[in-house]
Amino acid sequence: MPVTDRSAPTLTVDAARAHYDALGQGQDREMRYAAPAFARLIDNLDFTGVAQVVELGPGTGSFAEMLLGRHLSDDAAWLGLDVSTTMRDAAARRLSGFGDRAVLRDCAGDGGLALPDRSADLVVATYVLDLLSADAIDRFLAESARVLRPGGQLAIAGLAPAAFSLAGINMALWTVAHRLAPRRVGGCRPVRIDSRLPDSLWQVTHRSTVRAAGIQSATLVARRAARASSCA
Ligand SMILES: C[S@@+](CC[C@H](N)C(=O)[O-])C[C@H]1O[C@@H](n2cnc3c(N)ncnc32)[C@H](O)[C@@H]1O
Repeated sequence: MPVTDRSAPTLTVDAARAHYDALGQGQDREMRYAAPAFARLIDNLDFTGVAQVVELGPGTGSFAEMLLGRHLSDDAAWLGLDVSTTMRDAAARRLSGFGDRAVLRDCAGDGGLALPDRSADLVVATYVLDLLSADAIDRFLAESARVLRPGGQLAIAGLAPAAFSLAGINMALWTVAHRLAPRRVGGCRPVRIDSRLPDSLWQVTHRSTVRAAGIQSATLVARRAARASSCA
């Protein structure tokens, strides 16, 4: 879903870090619309043989807790990359019971994944591409293709535009609010992802929309094509 409107303003990495450092545990209010999207992703992921997960912008670690606690094998590892110290600390507290299977690291915020080529089985981004610049989203997608092993999965959830309906009105208002004052909406705005996943690199295995609490989300799972070459 990279953004169609490349001129849409986005928060700088420093502004996003400051916002999420200040927000803290308040981030969990998002679960009123994120929880059903998380469940949809989980229902459509194949956890067979998944040994290494990398998640961009994990926030307080809610999705990671579900993965590590209920769906991944006991020796699977998870790496979370987040620009916010407060969020990394919150996720570290939530995931402390998983010991060294859960690792949190700072990142540059440019969509890079700082992992070796073909070293991950699952890349996750929930409600974080919504606040990245179009260039950073493109970088994240290229990085996902680079770090995933052939057949590895990319799982994305995020705010999505909606047709005319209560959710459609809400999402249109959200887009306007983001245009006028991106900080008021945490820097997030509805974006489109799937048109930016080339068939030569990705096989989309799941795509849906989920409405909860008057907010529309899109969920997407794609597999890294087995024979495509890695792109740095
Ligand atoms: C809206 S929250 C989503 C948190 C979590 N993924 C969820 O779905 O509940 C966005 C998260 O991304 C982090 N973030 C913001 N900009 C980022 C960037 N450029 N790179 C990595 N993480 C970023 C924030 O600190 C925050 O933890």
